[in-house]
Amino acid sequence: MRSAIARGMPGTGLLRALAAAALTSASVLTVAAGTTSATPAPRVDNPYAGARVYVSPEWSAKAAAEPGGSRIADQPTGVWLDRIAAIEGAGGGMGLRDHLDEAVSQSGGEPTVIQLVIYDLPGRDCAALASNGELGPDDLPRYKSEFIDPIAEILADPAYADLRIVTVTEIDSLPNLVTNTGGRPTATPRCDVMKANGNYVRGVGYALGRLGAIENVYNYVDAAHHGWIGWDDNFGAAVDQFAEAARAEGATPADVHGFITNTANYSVLREPYFTVDGLGDPVRQSRWVDWNRYVDELSFAQAFRQRLVRAGFDQGVGMLIDTSRNGWGGSARPTGPGPQTSVDAYVDGGRVDRRIHIGNWCNQSGAGLGERPTAVPASGVDAYVWMKPPGESDGASQEIPNDEGKGFDEMCDPAYQCNPRNGDNPSGALANSPLSGHWFSAQFQELMRNAYPPL
Ligand code: BGC
Repeated sequence: MRSAIARGMPGTGLLRALAAAALTSASVLTVAAGTTSATPAPRVDNPYAGARVYVSPEWSAKAAAEPGGSRIADQPTGVWLDRIAAIEGAGGGMGLRDHLDEAVSQSGGEPTVIQLVIYDLPGRDCAALASNGELGPDDLPRYKSEFIDPIAEILADPAYADLRIVTVTEIDSLPNLVTNTGGRPTATPRCDVMKANGNYVRGVGYALGRLGAIENVYNYVDAAHHGWIGWDDNFGAAVDQFAEAARAEGATPADVHGFITNTANYSVLREPYFTVDGLGDPVRQSRWVDWNRYVDELSFAQAFRQRLVRAGFDQGVGMLIDTSRNGWGGSARPTGPGPQTSVDAYVDGGRVDRRIHIGNWCNQSGAGLGERPTAVPASGVDAYVWMKPPGESDGASQEIPNDEGKGFDEMCDPAYQCNPRNGDNPSGALANSPLSGHWFSAQFQELMRNAYPPL
């Protein structure tokens, strides 16, 4: 989640060196013998343009129950299919059909997007433990038959043909293969296993192909964030990895409608007080930037898009940016550039992303809500979205037994220091957090307080 860069980030100069059509059918509504069936409308270039976006009643109710929460409770957020049981509705919650039915009823006949996060790969989340998942590294057959196939069957139901179904496939997985494998200091044994057995690539390929065959599904592949694959050594390698997955298991690049960056992460949209070449090389040499080629998400997403097109993805490929928690407002937000006494003073004094290290990813202290969900906000960007529902934890700050496949990741413990994926820094996590996905009221309150733009 989010995982950060951390996961991928090469950390220091030294580590950096080491880390290296759309089917279109006419929109036909056929009414026969008292039943309504529809074939999907033609896939559009940007599904968010001119469309409303589904508001999950479950998230909305939790937000509205918080003091001040009604200010944002009508915002659209992602629906996470994070385990097989979520298809029918885990723990008595809404299942996939419930959400789709509700989306149809919210649509009032207008174009409507529903956002689904497809997140249950075998050996999931190989560089972290907070969202390890239920399927073992070799469980690709179960992933296909018990997770992707039933989802595809439901999404293909003609009752949902008028929805624009946005899917975000398997966050963190392919980026983990790029940066956290193969003898790099950031490598983990589990990521090496997933690289060697090919099940991330095959699983993503299978999901893209199966879901991409449904005419009103828009597949967006997770592309980490600038603080993970913004380094030269990772940037092109990530594109190559995505291109490989988009050709696996019967998928083709045409099954990919776009990419999403910053899902459930905290990387800021724009750093207003310095640019990557503002002081020439010195900014890149700062401890914070650490030779990255990008200092914020918008510049990264736009450049990454160009590179994807060069690698054979469609010219019209669109980017989404998760802005749910990358606002960094509030009283600690700098109001101008830092002093030019040293490069670190300059960057640290002016940066609005206040994380201790850009590799930190779990329940970050000081974060705020970012841009409200917006369609067509910038060139090449289909939408700013709130894919991670604000207020849902990234992971527990201590071990909590559970049957959700959630492990304890020390990056969620504020007392933890030291791993190469965050440059051996303190985790910056909030204390007393619940399991990933569970409601974290204190974080929700802080996110509202530190919203930028302010609420
Ligand atoms: C968790 C999921 C949860 C999602 C959205 C992930 O970290 O693993 O269970 O649905 O976050 O909050």
